[in-house]
Parts: sequence; C-alpha cells; structure tokens
Amino acid sequence: MTTASKTLRAGVVGLGWAGQQHMDAYAKLPGVELVAIAGMEDGPRAELGEKYGVERRYSDWRDLVADGDLDVVSVAVPTFLHAPITVGALEAGIHVLSEKPIARTADEARTMVDAAHRAGRVLEVAFNHRRRGDIEALKAAIDDGQIGRPYHARAVWLRRAGIPALGSWFTNREMAGGGPLIDIGVHVLDYALHLFGEPQVTAVSAVTHSELGARGRGGAKSDKQHVGSAYEVEDLASMLLRLEGGGSIVLETSWAAYRPAGDEFGITLYGTEGGADLRVVDYAPAGELTIFTGEGEEVEDIAVTADAGRGHLAVVETFLEHVADEANWSHWDGSLALDRARVIDAAYESARRGAEVRLSPATTGLDDAGSTDTTSTETTEA
Ligand SMILES: NC(=O)c1ccc[n+]([C@@H]2O[C@H](COP(=O)([O-])OP(=O)(O)OC[C@H]3O[C@@H](n4cnc5c(N)ncnc54)[C@H](O)[C@@H]3O)[C@@H](O)[C@H]2O)c1
Repeated sequence: MTTASKTLRAGVVGLGWAGQQHMDAYAKLPGVELVAIAGMEDGPRAELGEKYGVERRYSDWRDLVADGDLDVVSVAVPTFLHAPITVGALEAGIHVLSEKPIARTADEARTMVDAAHRAGRVLEVAFNHRRRGDIEALKAAIDDGQIGRPYHARAVWLRRAGIPALGSWFTNREMAGGGPLIDIGVHVLDYALHLFGEPQVTAVSAVTHSELGARGRGGAKSDKQHVGSAYEVEDLASMLLRLEGGGSIVLETSWAAYRPAGDEFGITLYGTEGGADLRVVDYAPAGELTIFTGEGEEVEDIAVTADAGRGHLAVVETFLEHVADEANWSHWDGSLALDRARVIDAAYESARRGAEVRLSPATTGLDDAGSTDTTSTETTEA
C-alpha cells in the first residue's frame, strides 16, 4: 500500500548548511511541503522562514516535534542531539531523516533504530556523497564489471586547514563524538563500502592523532558558533578495514595536516580486471574519474565524464519515496547507518587500545582479541 497521493508536511531542525540542504530539497520536490523549521539563531530563523515561506518557526526542537502536524522531519543539528530528536520524533509518529553521522556511538544509534521499529516509522540517514554523479558513475562501472572484483581501495578525505571551527561543537567530544573520522570519514566509509557492494567489515585497525587543532592551528574560516570548547578530538585518523571475502580498505581522513592546501576526497580502487581513481578537489561538483583497464603494455585509461549528481536532493527524494511505500517501512530503519557507527566505534576503540578490533556480525556488537565470541572467524593481532 502506498500513501503517495497525500502531500507530506515536513519540518527541518537545524539552520546551518546541512539544514538548508534539506529545506531546499523539500521546497523543490513534489508531494511535500515545508511547514516548520527550528533552530536557535534568531536572524537565520527569520531569514530562512521568509525564504521558504514557513510560518511555524521554533527556537527549540521540542516545540517542532510537539507541533502535532508533521509527517516527516529532517534532523540537522550537532551530533549529540541526533538521538534525542530522532527518538522524540519517531515516538510522535514522525518519519525521520537524520544527518550523518547517525549518532556519537553505535549504542546511541541502536536506540534510534529500536525507536523506528517500535514506532513503525522510517528512519534514514543522509549519505549524500554516494549520490554524487562521479560516485554513481563509478558504482555503475563496477556493477558493469569494468574492474572485475574490487579487492583493495585507498579512500581519503583530507584537509589542510579544515577544522570546521576551533572552539565550536565540532571539536567538543561530548557534542560531536569525535573529529574528522566520525564527521567526514563516515562519508568515505559509506561510499567505499557502497562501491564494494556492502561487504561486512570484519576487523578494524586504526590510529588517530591530535597535533594541530590542540595547538590552535588548522581552523577553517567559519561563522560557526563557539561553545568555548577546548580541542578534544583527533585531527587526523587512518585505518585499515578487513572485509568479509578478503577485501581491504585503507581510509585516511584529516581536518588539519600539512599537505597541499584545500580539501580533497576520493578513492583509488584495485580490482581483478581493472582499477579506478576518483579525485575531487575543493568540492568540485564533478571529480576526475579514471578507469584503468588493459593488460601488460596494452594499458587503457578511460576518463569518465560524470554529471554533478543531486546529493541531498536525491537523498531527500529517496527518503520521501520510502515514506510513501508503507508496506516496506520496516526496511528503512537506519540499520545501514548503525553499521557505519559500529565501524567508527571499532576504529576509535582500536586507536585507544593500539590493537586491531574485530567486529562480529551485525547486531552482536564489538568484539576484541580476548573475546570468547565464537561467531568471529579471524584472529586478531596487536
Ligand atoms: N551531509 C553533509 O554533507 C553534511 C555537511 C555538514 C554538516 N552535516 C551534519 O549536519 C549536522 C549539522 O551540521 P551543521 O554544519 O549544519 O551545523 P551548524 O552548527 O552550522 O548548525 C547547527 C544547527 O542546529 C541548531 N540547534 C542546536 N541545538 C538546537 C536545539 N536545541 N533546538 C533546535 N535547534 C538546535 C542550531 O541552532 C543550528 O541552527 C551535523 O550532524 C553534521 O555532521 C552534514
């Protein structure tokens, strides 16, 4: 059964860049009307209310959730608020699209997934990078067999001086849950696993460093509100993921590091029949994508032209399609994002312990070298 004919009423909590992507999408897409926004900044709240013709404007998320008239809500606030707002909205019968990362920890994420099941509502998380045109083109090339079976990748998101703002909620452990690994690394983790075809991550070995932010360096120019936080999170992280079936991914991410200026993300993939390289510099709408094939001296490098993709617009559109598909609501419960959170948890745990952390199959939680968990199949070395 579908409820597609009804115009859905949407709310957005959060007035920053992320919240505005959701507002924009609701304003552009058919079958939905943006009717309420919430955020603490008076000026932006009034301006965005005017821009999108939204009269119901709240300073606190609780008032928006209690509004009583919403079908869907987007949660685009500091990460520590994702779980309480999501659970509150689900309990009020509202379908939720949360920004990434789903939450600060997998335990917190699990409360959100459980709430979605209890409420019988949709919970999704915005992984907009996998909806870029270049990532979609690379995924299509892989699905088409152009590189054979991918067995290793190096995936990065690196910034020279891109700490979202020194002293803001982003650098506060309690509010953010971590630094670049959980903030931008989670996008890289998502698109890398998506490109590999969603294999289970079986083990994670990670290191984190906090060298520049803690010295007051590496901050981006930003108007983000300061909460007076010390620099409490990492500014660089690197990890090796072991995948079910023998594949592997090396993932490196920094908010700040002495490297070429600007921002760069992408992935280099090695497959049994070919390889691929995607490099996106300074948020170019479409990155440089090359597929490598051929054999021996007969190399063939194919430059692939991709369009910009639709990012958040596609994410919100898919969310609304799932909300319209009532028979399948229970499929869209946030569990993919919970799996991402389990990997991020394992990475922080590995960095803290200085040892590889093994992940048991989904839902059984973190496992480590000393565990007696018999579901795990790999040995673990420090
Ligand atoms: N998907 C992406 O590409 C992407 C990009 C940037 C940020 N994000 C995510 O979006 C979220 C927000 O990031 P941002 O950069 O927009 O943050 P921001 O700091 O610019 O904005 C946060 C907003 O949350 C609001 N807020 C805080 N507490 C509130 C409360 N109690 N009630 C109502 N509103 C409240 C603030 O008033 C502000 O408007 C984060 O989870 C971040 O990880 C995602």
